[in-house]
Amino acid sequence: MSTQKPVRRITAPQINRRKGADPIVSLTSYHAHTAAIVDKYADFILVGDSLGMVMHGMESTVGVSLELMIMHGKAVVRGTSRALVVVDMPFGTYEESPSVAFRNAARVMKETQCGAVKLEGGARMAETIRFLTERGIPVMAHIGLTPQSVNVMGGFKTQGRDEDSWASHEEDARAVAEAGAFALVVEGMVEPLAARITKKISIPTIGIGASAECDGQILVLEDMLGLNPTPPKFVKVYGNLGGQIEAAVKAYSDEVKDRSFPSENEVYR
Ligand code: KIV
Repeated sequence: MSTQKPVRRITAPQINRRKGADPIVSLTSYHAHTAAIVDKYADFILVGDSLGMVMHGMESTVGVSLELMIMHGKAVVRGTSRALVVVDMPFGTYEESPSVAFRNAARVMKETQCGAVKLEGGARMAETIRFLTERGIPVMAHIGLTPQSVNVMGGFKTQGRDEDSWASHEEDARAVAEAGAFALVVEGMVEPLAARITKKISIPTIGIGASAECDGQILVLEDMLGLNPTPPKFVKVYGNLGGQIEAAVKAYSDEVKDRSFPSENEVYR
């Protein structure tokens, strides 16, 4: 018998059943302390590969490794008890074949104890999504602006500006839903197309720079907290963490310099 307290987390099937119901709240988080705060409000927390840019100063997500995702995934799982934790599969760890994807996704699930993985791509990833879900790995899909493809897209560009491309985006959404994805991130897509996809498919859509009509929304935590000096245009910034950190660092620096920093007795009372 296990002596561990049972953790009742939201599950991937529960998120899947929220289609057309209560809006799904989600944010990214990459570390234990912020995850513990987000856990109180979010239905799922994404350990996104955006951590390569946000936490590690990379220019894109292409350089993120599986080990890095596992390290941050473990931290977020440890810091939380309620939300579903979804970990991103980084570039190069799932595209080659369904069996390579399974080996790497199983490693992510085992080592982090997360509840699901996310991967980028539409119709071309449908076979892999089916392979993983049939073998016990819940998959969140991701279409529209897929940052891991930045080098073929030629930049982070809003998708669907040309109405002729709508059919292929709709086919991507249909294919991943049909393959068994439990939810679908729709990133950087013109509003009417994202709304149309949301109406047409059977799984919840999670918008980011897409449409308020999506079944849920996700933002990168550091963007919405005001920690990123150049957030994407679509982001509503809810905090001023960058300013608050700077003010605190300056106050500390001033105290150290003018020798008004509290003595050990005052600090450790
Ligand atoms: O990596 C990430 O943070 C993401 C979200 C932007 C959806 O994929």
